[in-house]
Amino acid sequence: MKKIRIGIVGAGNIAQSAHLPAYRTLQDRAEIVAIADLNRPRAQDAADKFGIPAAFGSVEEMLANSALDMVDICVWNGSHAPVAIAAAQAGKAILCEKPMADCLEHALQMEREVKKAGVPFMMAMVSRFGGEQQLLHDMIEAGELGDIYYAKTAYIRRRGTPLGWFTDTKKSGGGPVIDIGVHCIDRTWYLMGKPKPVRVSASVSRRIGNYQTKGVSRWIALDRDVTAFDTEDSAAAIIHFENGASMLVEASWAINAKPDAYTQICGTKAGATLDPLVIYGENEQGYLTDNQPTVAKYNGFEAELAHLIDCLQTGKPPLAPIEDGITVQRMLQGIYDSASLGREVCLD
Ligand SMILES: NC(=O)c1ccc[n+]([C@@H]2O[C@H](COP(=O)([O-])OP(=O)(O)OC[C@H]3O[C@@H](n4cnc5c(N)ncnc54)[C@H](O)[C@@H]3O)[C@@H](O)[C@H]2O)c1
Repeated sequence: MKKIRIGIVGAGNIAQSAHLPAYRTLQDRAEIVAIADLNRPRAQDAADKFGIPAAFGSVEEMLANSALDMVDICVWNGSHAPVAIAAAQAGKAILCEKPMADCLEHALQMEREVKKAGVPFMMAMVSRFGGEQQLLHDMIEAGELGDIYYAKTAYIRRRGTPLGWFTDTKKSGGGPVIDIGVHCIDRTWYLMGKPKPVRVSASVSRRIGNYQTKGVSRWIALDRDVTAFDTEDSAAAIIHFENGASMLVEASWAINAKPDAYTQICGTKAGATLDPLVIYGENEQGYLTDNQPTVAKYNGFEAELAHLIDCLQTGKPPLAPIEDGITVQRMLQGIYDSASLGREVCLD
């Protein structure tokens, strides 16, 4: 089968630490033919390190000078829309890192251009791709948990604010809600069967800010000389769905609380948590049971990229289509809107 020819845009941390190493495991089905970054020497460094034949200083230059099937977007959140629109207009398939965009309006512009061009598009929602998530998803689809009516999810860092553009709203669109809340909201909503979100009530906090705490680890963007710090540092929300279900969400980069990351799904027959996957049910004798199925662990990025290559080669629909990116972005936007208005907001 023909190899998929890929151009990467953004030669920063996620490209170099996750996407490019994962593509190495797919060399029989995909080849990286070019990489572009506004910081051209950074693109060249990555090209040298990963054996990529061409490096460019912009997506436009890359599109004009390379034969590509797909563009993999690994740039600041605020650059997702312009890069995706350029790729769509050039007729390329697109993989877009999370979140879809820095705001709903830009995500909708992307959707319009992608649909107009008719190109394949997948959101890089890596946390859908663990073995546990897929097994639980199959169990829920098969009705083993009954109707899902409630879920609770959190990604709580006590001190874990990323360094760099992430804290500059102009480049990121927001703080932990859009950066890590997106992972747990997306994964939980996907497991719930993707019900339509209709209302959100949320609050966000900016009380801890640019702390100087020592001995803590952080994600470091390769552009770390950014001084702006105007994002929230924690948030809590409840999202209500058209089918009557609801999801409670907490996300923080900095809060005086126990660090945690979880997803809990509650159905009429059973419930479940992830990491590890435990099913909370009841047996035929009427006793409560906690079952922990054995699930093979695998690298989420490798699974995500292998899945997309497979979709492009066979025409299969991707697991995280553009409509999902839009719905998740609506929930993120709803959280920010509700917090700034100080009341519940409707999402239509
Ligand atoms: N899936 C995950 O778990 C995960 C983890 C971390 C980051 N991310 C996402 O990956 C993306 C990149 O984050 P990062 O940590 O690699 O940041 P980074 O700062 O290390 O790298 C981003 C790169 O994009 C380049 N860039 C920005 N706008 C550009 C444009 N218009 N054209 C070309 N290059 C451009 C910058 O010069 C920089 O080199 C973000 O959207 C982030 O949310 C995802």
